[in-house]
Amino acid sequence: MPAELKLNPLTLLAARRRAANLPVYDLTVSNPDVAGFTWPRDILAVALGGPGCERHQPDPFGSIDARTAIAAHYAQHGATVSPKHICLSASTSEAYTWWLRLLCEPGDNVLAPEPAYPLISVLAEISRVKVIPYRCEFRDGLWSVDPASLKPDAKTRAILAVSPANPTGHTLSAVDLQALRNAQQKAAPACALIVDEVFLDYPAAAFAAQPSVLAQKNLEPLIVLSGLSKVTLTPQLKVGWSVLAGPAEWLQMVLPKLEHHADAFLSVNAPAQVALPFLLKEAPAYRTAVRARLDANEATLQAALVRLVGCEVLPRQAGWSAVVRLPAGVDELNFALQALEEGASVHPGHYYDFASGNSIVLSLLTDPKDFGAGLDALIRALPRC
Ligand SMILES: Cc1ncc(COP(=O)(O)O)c(C=O)c1O
Repeated sequence: MPAELKLNPLTLLAARRRAANLPVYDLTVSNPDVAGFTWPRDILAVALGGPGCERHQPDPFGSIDARTAIAAHYAQHGATVSPKHICLSASTSEAYTWWLRLLCEPGDNVLAPEPAYPLISVLAEISRVKVIPYRCEFRDGLWSVDPASLKPDAKTRAILAVSPANPTGHTLSAVDLQALRNAQQKAAPACALIVDEVFLDYPAAAFAAQPSVLAQKNLEPLIVLSGLSKVTLTPQLKVGWSVLAGPAEWLQMVLPKLEHHADAFLSVNAPAQVALPFLLKEAPAYRTAVRARLDANEATLQAALVRLVGCEVLPRQAGWSAVVRLPAGVDELNFALQALEEGASVHPGHYYDFASGNSIVLSLLTDPKDFGAGLDALIRALPRC
């Protein structure tokens, strides 16, 4: 059994507390629905029941109306993309898996960032693809890619990046992108840069919104992943997508392969495709409410720092999480266990491959009352560590 499937001490302790009816303030929430962000049922029902929901008109890449709406979404992010270069899938996870299988032969590898979105290694393992990590470092107040840690070889078929990253919020700068592009040149021919942008719509109040990487005019293969989980806050609809950009010869070579793959699955159901243009149009209001929640909880966390003596909140460029550095010498797992004893569930940094051993990750999506109660629990836990 993979190590991640075994119950860890934090899961066991949370289960014991719940069984004993003791409070668990969950500062790890990533499901908008659990955090109180849902679309009204009647509005969703009308959108899902629009014209075409009753028919099965399969297109391997997804309906042209859905893809046209996605292209319009990228226009708002500074990028011109063709609906012909967009392919729907039943989640970003499925898109990752397709690309890993489509680009890699046995023995090939991909480069992927650390700290990391944990599903990348799981999806690579399932796809039997080796992951060679590269480091992202927090230096001079910002996250950046460590170029020296990028080690492509002749079997590197893709370089993965998450921008804004989960959980650090690291948004690739022009210098970072250049480092990734340089590594792409040294990898196998037609090595693709795959950038997961699911958090692009969630810049923090203190930082300016960034354009999609699709806005840059670089003629190396690029695949951008995103989906409705975060863009319209509807993970239950299971819609993701890939957007391709790059040299014409590469597109000519890869699009038929992608079509073959997607045609074998035809994964995205008709009602979700029918609803997608409406959801994308109406989503900004929902996202504004989420951004307000993230900023408010972050302000509460900042205010609590006087009582979290010696802790530091790393600046958040974007995304749904806050990274807190614990005082030197405080072990993150021990702290997370003590915090749970006091009632707060948090993720220790090693869940995301942080190198330091003294980081925790808090979800800023959590209901503000629970977030406040959770912070009080962290404050009680700290002196015990
Ligand atoms: C970086 C990142 N990509 C993708 C996803 C999930 O996307 P999907 O539900 O489309 O697989 C998440 C979910 O939290 C995420 O953090």
